[in-house]
Amino acid sequence: MNPLITDFARTEQRTPVIVALDFADADSTLAFVRRLEPSLCQLKIGKELFTASGRSLAESLINQGFKLFLDLKYHDIPNTVAQACRVAADMGVWMVDVHASGGRRMMEAAAEAVANSVQKPLLIGVTVLTSMAKEDLAELGIGISIEEQVLRLAKLVQSSGLDGVVCSAHEAAPLRDALGQEFALVTPGIRLDTAGNKDDQRRIMTPAQALAAGSTYLVMGRPVTQAADPVAVLREVNTLAAEMV
Ligand code: C5P
Repeated sequence: MNPLITDFARTEQRTPVIVALDFADADSTLAFVRRLEPSLCQLKIGKELFTASGRSLAESLINQGFKLFLDLKYHDIPNTVAQACRVAADMGVWMVDVHASGGRRMMEAAAEAVANSVQKPLLIGVTVLTSMAKEDLAELGIGISIEEQVLRLAKLVQSSGLDGVVCSAHEAAPLRDALGQEFALVTPGIRLDTAGNKDDQRRIMTPAQALAAGSTYLVMGRPVTQAADPVAVLREVNTLAAEMV
C-alpha cells in the first residue's frame, strides 16, 4: 500500500489528482477553477500560464484554498535555484520542481532553502523529459537507456534530500521498488480510457493502473479540463483512489 495514498484517507485532502491548468490566460483559468473546489484536486500551473499571468494568479489560486504545484522546472546554478524555491515557498506553493540534471549541489541548495519555510513545499525532481528518446540522450553524451538514466537521476534526487520525482507512470513500479514507499511519484500521461483519445501523449495509463503501479499523484490536464463535467471526472478518480487504499 502506498502510504502517501493512505495519508489521503487520514486527512481532509482525499485526492491524488493534480489538475494541469494548461490555459493561456488568467481569465480562462479562473473561469474553469470556479467550477472546482479544493477538496477535489490540487492544481498545477506551468511555464506558459505563469509567464502570462504570474504571481498574482498563483496567489489567487492559493488564496482560494487550493494546493498549488508551481511546475517551473528550475535549472540553474545552486544559488539561483535555491532563491527561486525560497520565493515559491514563501508564496505558499504546495509543490515545486527542479531539473535533476542540475545536479546534487543544486538540489541540496534547493532543499536547504525550503527546509525552514512555514509551510515547506514538496520539492520534486524532474528526471528525463518524456519527450526525450534514447537518441536525444546519446546526442547529449549519455550512452545508457532512458530507464537507466531515469533511475540514476531519481536516486540522485532522493539522496539530495528531495521529496519525489516527476516520472512516467510506466516507470513508477521500478522506481517505487528502488526508492521506497515514502518517495512521491508524480505521474502525467493519465487517460480515463486507454483505448480513447491520447492527445499528444505517447504512453498513457488509466488512474487505476497508475495508482496500482505506485504513483502518488496523478497529473491530469485535458481529461479534466476538457471534460463536459470536470467535477464528475474528479469524483470518479477520487472514489477509485479511496477504494484502493
Ligand atoms: O492534458 P494532459 O493530461 O496530457 O496534461 C499533462 C500535463 O502534464 C501537462 O501540463 C504537461 O505539460 C505535463 N507533463 C507531461 N509529461 C511530462 C511532464 C509534464 O505531460 N513528462
